[in-house]
Amino acid sequence: PLPVIAVDGPSGVGKGTLCSRLARSLGWHLLDSGAIYRALALKIIKDALVDADEDDWIQAATELDLHFEVDADRGTRIMLDGENVTARLRSEQCAKVASQVAPVAAVRTALLHRQQAFLKPPGLVADGRDMGTVVFKNAPLKLFLTASATIRAERRYKQLQSAGVDVKIRDLLKDIEARDQRDSGRAVAPLVPADDAIVIDTGDLSIDKVYELAMQLVHDNL
Ligand code: CDP
Repeated sequence: PLPVIAVDGPSGVGKGTLCSRLARSLGWHLLDSGAIYRALALKIIKDALVDADEDDWIQAATELDLHFEVDADRGTRIMLDGENVTARLRSEQCAKVASQVAPVAAVRTALLHRQQAFLKPPGLVADGRDMGTVVFKNAPLKLFLTASATIRAERRYKQLQSAGVDVKIRDLLKDIEARDQRDSGRAVAPLVPADDAIVIDTGDLSIDKVYELAMQLVHDNL
């Protein structure tokens, strides 16, 4: 079977940075599953379906016209209905709506094969909430990253500030805690480590250190 590294954990824990570095240095594909949920959220917002029935969300998930255009020089462009939405997907509104539609079992099922299709030779680094528990249950290496909500809010704050986005750290913390609760408390694919996941508390670790640790585990396990 093709190798998969499943990386799960809550918002702002550094999964995205870790996964793109792992994928780049291994020369493997990268799945940002959160971007798929965010793209669905954006579609639901654009079509004014936020307050609609679950059935409308499920239909939107089934018909989602979404493509990842990988460009070695300019990074990945995320195309929704033929439009480049890469930047728009980063909004807190998309994240919030994503976590509102994510608990719906049929929405998750509708997005399952789309995620599994990212697994192609020579291998895949998969970033999400349920990569090790649902989408790639047989992954030979599963990492689960954690850190306190305060630390994650601080990291996200710095990230957004350096991107020129003006936010209050207090609001970020509230958003993170609300999303944690929705993601961990849901009945379907709750955010929990797989039984065979290696849990890494990144609270006191630099991103370089987390990367070194992960690379060591890749070499020991794959
Ligand atoms: O980047 P951040 O961690 O803030 O969020 P994300 O990974 O882009 O995911 C946004 C939301 O989508 C999460 O809060 C989850 O509710 C949902 N999601 C999910 O349910 N399953 C995944 N595999 C990925 C994201």
